Amino acid sequence: MFIEPASFSKQSVNRFLGEDHARLDSLFQKARAAFDSGRRQDGAALFFEFQAGLEQHLRMEEEILFPKFEALVPHETEPGPTQALRLDHREIRKLLRLIGDNLSAGESPCGSAEALHGVLQSHSLQEELVLYRLIDRVAGSALASELVHCMEAL
Ligand SMILES: [Fe+2]
Repeated sequence: MFIEPASFSKQSVNRFLGEDHARLDSLFQKARAAFDSGRRQDGAALFFEFQAGLEQHLRMEEEILFPKFEALVPHETEPGPTQALRLDHREIRKLLRLIGDNLSAGESPCGSAEALHGVLQSHSLQEELVLYRLIDRVAGSALASELVHCMEAL
């Protein structure tokens, strides 16, 4: 969690998506804790709630945020930051599917859950420290608010 400057509007992209990261982190942590203590059913229910929320989060970024970022900050001669983030999303979806398959087969998701935790930690940090802040700055508060509104409505 990062401390926002007081000037950040309530509707900033960084605040909106950063809070969603925190909510999803907490769900995933609870799911892993449930599996670690042998509460498999609770763990599976928490995981599927986390999965649905994370998939929605990825959609908000891919369908609204990344295209807007690419339009506002074009990278003509080198790959921009969204390219690496999109590749991370592919890896995240692969691990979510793997864990879902493990759970459906009655298996424990330990290794895949650890791998997903690792990918998500660096991915979220990259988004919060670079992408979200940059788009808030480049877009300005009115457009940033509009972007948040569009993501909420998705
Ligand atoms: Fe992302």
